[in-house]
Amino acid sequence: MPALRVLLSAEQIHNRIAELGAEIDRDYAEGEPVYLIGVLKGAFIFLADLARAMKTQVRIEFIGISSYGKAKTTSGQVQLTKDLDVPIEGHHVILVEDILDTGITLSYLAMLMTQRKPKSLRIATLLDKPERRRTPVKVDYVGFRIPDEFVIGYGLDYAEDYRNLKDVCVLGEP
Ligand code: IMP
Ligand code: MG
Repeated sequence: MPALRVLLSAEQIHNRIAELGAEIDRDYAEGEPVYLIGVLKGAFIFLADLARAMKTQVRIEFIGISSYGKAKTTSGQVQLTKDLDVPIEGHHVILVEDILDTGITLSYLAMLMTQRKPKSLRIATLLDKPERRRTPVKVDYVGFRIPDEFVIGYGLDYAEDYRNLKDVCVLGEP
């Protein structure tokens, strides 16, 4: 069992998401529903908590992407594994992602969503590793900027393990 070091505690995450929810509520005060589109699988816990931190009317959708396989670094190729079930044309959309790393995934998804003509498109990410960026991405809501370390927990995995940890942890060497 490799060593785990807590980077962000469940309580820190909870408090920050409450702030993000309030900020999003202020930005969408006009009363139309907002489509929260979670990027599977890593964003599922963040999406669940963010939606409950908001008072704005939300609709929940998911999109599936794979770029990693079992490696810790991106393959650089993004594959759509599950498309949206509904059209988003004319609706407010927030893409909800667990972590922004090289930016390849979110820049691809932002392009794909824009083609579908939403009324507005914003991006929320729980974590951002700015040092790792290869493709610029404009993000609107960031939970935490973190250093260039591989993290797991709170939805994030390493080879599909650890998603159910309550804290975001750094995965050490075995
Ligand atoms: P990007 O396309 O390089 O920005 O990568 C984004 C995706 O890579 C995220 O949705 C995660 O699935 C995965 N990822 C990037 N960094 C980490 C990490 O530190 N832990 C777990 N997954 C990560
Ligand atoms: Mg992901």
